[in-house]
Amino acid sequence: VDRCFEFTGSNAGPWRVLDVRSIIGDAIASAPALAIAPAGLSSPRAPGAWSLRGVISNIRYAAAVERDTLTARQAGLGRSEALCAALIPIRKNPAWWALAQDERRAIMEEQSHHITIGLDYLPAVARKLYHCRDIGEPFDFLTWFEFAPEHAGHFDDLLVRLRASHEWSYVDREVEMRLERAG
Ligand code: HEM
Repeated sequence: VDRCFEFTGSNAGPWRVLDVRSIIGDAIASAPALAIAPAGLSSPRAPGAWSLRGVISNIRYAAAVERDTLTARQAGLGRSEALCAALIPIRKNPAWWALAQDERRAIMEEQSHHITIGLDYLPAVARKLYHCRDIGEPFDFLTWFEFAPEHAGHFDDLLVRLRASHEWSYVDREVEMRLERAG
């Protein structure tokens, strides 16, 4: 699948790992650097301290008007000024996965305002969502963010707001990794 990517923590890679910490549940091993590369779903893992895979998928919850607002406002990855990044793998609990699509959407947006809050941080924060629940990975999602150093404080604020939401009461494992572009 050309939409499958592998995040590998090892000694080499274009991102230097500054910090890894558990927000809830088990952390993952620390490694000095991170690389992101296309991967086959059943190809051998790249060598390293750890590797996580995720697939780029279609949207599930955003409504058409939200999708259009996001598209109009968002920046792409790889901007030269975006020297900071965060990798945040997340797993949600069985109660979340037992809900119907409309119930999950209502929690995410009408109750928790995930998209409305997130839009406040665009285009400063560029984002990419990878899905991994259905490919047998330890997390359900890999979330990736890039921003300039002067927006790091705003990104911290965004995390505080989202983690205080009702949606996050369904998160049972979350690891936060902070990175900077190497050399
Ligand atoms: C930068 C601003 C952000 C915006 C604009 C944003 C927007 C969105 C949107 C539109 C979706 C739904 C995609 C769909 O329809 O399937 C989504 C999903 C998600 N976002 Fe964010 N988000 C932001 C920040 C974050 C942050 C900081 C985190 C993690 C700490 C995060 C974690 C997630 C996760 C885990 C999902 C998948 C949820 C699920 O499918 O159950 N987002 N985000």
